[in-house]
Amino acid sequence: MTRGPRVARTVPALRRAVAALRKAGGSVALVPTMGALHAGHLALVRAAKKRARRVVVSIFVNPTQFAPNEDFASYPRRFAADLKVLAQAKVDLVWAPSQAVMYPDGFATQIAPAGAAQAGLEDKFRPHFFGGVATVVAKLFTQVGPDVALFGQKDYQQLRVVTQMAADLDLPVAVVGIPTVRERDGLALSSRNAYLSAAERRNAPVLCRVLKQGAARIKGGEPPAQVLSEGAAEIMRAGFTLDYLEARHARTLAPVSSRQDGPIRLLVAARIGKTRLIDNIAV
Ligand code: PAJ
Repeated sequence: MTRGPRVARTVPALRRAVAALRKAGGSVALVPTMGALHAGHLALVRAAKKRARRVVVSIFVNPTQFAPNEDFASYPRRFAADLKVLAQAKVDLVWAPSQAVMYPDGFATQIAPAGAAQAGLEDKFRPHFFGGVATVVAKLFTQVGPDVALFGQKDYQQLRVVTQMAADLDLPVAVVGIPTVRERDGLALSSRNAYLSAAERRNAPVLCRVLKQGAARIKGGEPPAQVLSEGAAEIMRAGFTLDYLEARHARTLAPVSSRQDGPIRLLVAARIGKTRLIDNIAV
């Protein structure tokens, strides 16, 4: 049996464990997660191992980034299975604070990100979301003190918001984005894919297909507006309710109308049954 990674559950225990890792030599990478780990998370861990000598993975289902009507209560929690996977991946330390440790009684401070966090994409449908993410990620950064932190491009707007937050607050950490890991049929891996029924799962790759075809057509010179309205129709024909399908500037997330406006990222969010899926791709 593989011995599991060390688990820290309080800030002082975490600080001692990170100091010991640093003393034993080298840099520290952090991979923040909400658990229910899949191959997408493990790609971040592998990338972390390449960039730092020691790897810390945090597992914390952050209540402040869920709205009351969202899936905080039912979000998959599989701590024992996650620990096994992280042991196999030879992670050095798992940071698993309770809610009381992360948000003690009287907690009263929030980071309010603007810029990419107000692009009118995820923020339009989940107004509370990026405040919750920016605050918990700033806390994770100051708790762990990593040299580098790895985030998935799967949550592209989140990656932009966290990158800007770290720069704006002069946090001494390099934020690195890692390409999306997909199923063979193109569906981006997500802990929420577990909510899909068999029939919904069969239709889900439409999101990735529309993004891929859209990117190719826009690269070929077709106007984004035309390409996206056809893509939107295809997604709705597959049974999804579309929250957005948009072409945005890859860095600022500002709206773009042609390739002359800068590097383009296509981003989509859509709902089917009780599942909300997001995906994105570079043009
Ligand atoms: P979570 O959804 O658990 O994702 C943790 C990290 O894994 C994020 O950086 C996310 O972008 C990345 N990830 C998820 N699916 C991926 C895939 N298919 N390919 C590559 N990377 C993928 O995102 C969060 O948690 C939270 O918002 C968090 C940042 C931990 C703050 O609470």
